Amino acid sequence: MLIHEYLGPAGVLLKLLDRHPMRPAHIHLMISREGYVPVTTQIFPKDDPYLETDTVFAVKDDLVVDFKPLQGDPNATLELEYNIVLAPTEREVTVAKF
Ligand SMILES: [Fe+2]
Repeated sequence: MLIHEYLGPAGVLLKLLDRHPMRPAHIHLMISREGYVPVTTQIFPKDDPYLETDTVFAVKDDLVVDFKPLQGDPNATLELEYNIVLAPTEREVTVAKF
């Protein structure tokens, strides 16, 4: 059984809009490295029932991931390989001359 709770002003607004207050499960990521533009984002498991109706509209296709079963680790049951590319803070600019 799912329990939807409408809490606080945001909950009142969502209820007025006839939207549920649920978010899909997610993991926050903050990635930074000197010389690159930092990235803050979230990733979502592909089987979450709230992907299509995330109440804050944060789900993007590139952020939906497929966790794989992990064996042999007493502290985890799933694993994920997810590549993140950071943009350099300074780019070399090539000017074409005609
Ligand atoms: Fe969160």
